[in-house]
Amino acid sequence: MSDDHPSRREVIGRLAVLAGLGALPACGVFGGATLVAPVEKLPEGSALRTTVKDQPVILVNVGGKVRAFSGLCTHESCELGWNQRQQLIRCPCHGSGFTPDGQVKMGPATRPLPEFPASVRDGKVFVDL
Ligand code: FES
Repeated sequence: MSDDHPSRREVIGRLAVLAGLGALPACGVFGGATLVAPVEKLPEGSALRTTVKDQPVILVNVGGKVRAFSGLCTHESCELGWNQRQQLIRCPCHGSGFTPDGQVKMGPATRPLPEFPASVRDGKVFVDL
């Protein structure tokens, strides 16, 4: 849409900023996507654990693209973390590792991580879950 006629989503986003909601993580749902964090909390080469609609989610920013995956391991559902040095999503329970695009790097997990649509708008990360 043009600047003269902002979309519904843009209007809601602007109202959220005016209301001061933009600075808070996981604080709002806008058109199906949930605002989860300001993008400065997710610098290149890092990851961030959060929850969206009470579900663990891990955000990854590698290669200039922010992606969102289930924060639960596909082996036995332990909560995942991030190994900065390895640049891998790691499971503390049995040692599985996942690449920043959610693929299995090391088992015992055999299935990739479910991915959710993520986007960055106006300096904020949104996840559609
Ligand atoms: S639950 Fe993650 S490796 Fe077993």
